[in-house]
Amino acid sequence: MRIGITGTGLFTPPHSISNDELVAAFNTWVDNENAKRAQTGEKPLEKSSAEFITSASGIGRRYAMDRTGILDPDLMRPQIANRSNEMHSIQCEMAIAAAKEAMAQAGVSAGDIGAVILACSNQQRSYPAVAVEVQEALGTKGFAFDMNVACSSATFGINIAHDLVRAGSVERALVVSPEICTGHLNFRDRESHFIFGDACTAVIVEDLEKSKAKEAWEIMGTRLATKFSNNIRNNAGFLDRCDPEHRDDVDKLFVQRGRAVFKEVSPMVADLISTHLESVGVAPTDIRRMWLHQANGTMNQWIARKVLGRDATATESPSVLEEYANTSSCGSIITFHKHRAELAEGDVGVICSFGAGYSVGSVIVKKRIAGDAPQAA
Ligand code: COA
Repeated sequence: MRIGITGTGLFTPPHSISNDELVAAFNTWVDNENAKRAQTGEKPLEKSSAEFITSASGIGRRYAMDRTGILDPDLMRPQIANRSNEMHSIQCEMAIAAAKEAMAQAGVSAGDIGAVILACSNQQRSYPAVAVEVQEALGTKGFAFDMNVACSSATFGINIAHDLVRAGSVERALVVSPEICTGHLNFRDRESHFIFGDACTAVIVEDLEKSKAKEAWEIMGTRLATKFSNNIRNNAGFLDRCDPEHRDDVDKLFVQRGRAVFKEVSPMVADLISTHLESVGVAPTDIRRMWLHQANGTMNQWIARKVLGRDATATESPSVLEEYANTSSCGSIITFHKHRAELAEGDVGVICSFGAGYSVGSVIVKKRIAGDAPQAA
């Protein structure tokens, strides 16, 4: 049975924030805070710099669902109003936009989809699952559920979609990843205030025998790995109200030991991709493209070098960091969405995401043009 990705979609929020704008807001807040600290004798806070952000991460700007609140030194958080239960939730709205593009690309309608997997780092409520809301909004059949493996959510979701199709549970599944990362980012933390942006991606995974798509990316294999670490952690959860004194502590937002993550996760990712390639019989020299998780440009260069045995060109390991920053689980999928058109029939690439958990998900794909795919013996 041949199963593949036949459509992808991307929702990009309407507002963009440059490093200079973000740093100006942060430094204004630092000036105000330090004026207070001067009175009490507390150690002053250090300022942020746009030059540091670009050189340390490769990030130039990011999209956000709201920019006014983030750039207001008195707020420094997105302002996203509660909605009534009768309205689509904001994550549902983002998912619908991305899903429509993916469905159009795959040439399928909502009624052709048997499962919706909403896979992302933060769901805005516990239940009903946002995925079920998306199912209702789009009119897809079957079932839907939410899942969360942080930055690896989309590749883990593709793995599950693939297995559902292979098991005959559904012919076709939609994986959507509405990431509002600015909602969990501490814009007052110098070490991490620049890291994230918002986006939503969508992926159609289907039985290629039943596909109407002109172009497909046959899934040659998927591989997942997790290993516990506290180095990327967000303690926000449903029990916060049970200890109100600590409800607004900074650990209820994204906290990261970035350098440790860089050192520990990079070899884990390179090893997983290398052993995964070997297991499906693809030599590293045969990879045309690596669509890697978008957290840090230098990290991706290191991983690509380790896998390929040489430096990857910007075309072989494309980056969307400058424009999108880290969009958690969307990163590798945005890169796949934007940088695959020119590849030829038979070209092989790796989609790989990694992050909190730690978690790593690898999906090896081969381009197929309709009518050219080999028939099963
Ligand atoms: N502006 C200016 N200087 C800053 C700064 C800022 N916003 N933030 C930190 N610095 C300074 C530090 O104080 C430190 O100064 P020192 O050398 O005088 O002590 C120096 O810059 C280096 O800080 P460090 O935190 O070690 O930076 P880094 O080079 O490791 O870069 C990250 C930070 C987050 C960009 C990087 O570690 C990273 O991307 N890690 C991987 C993250 C990842 O993959 N996560 C998984 C998915 S979420």
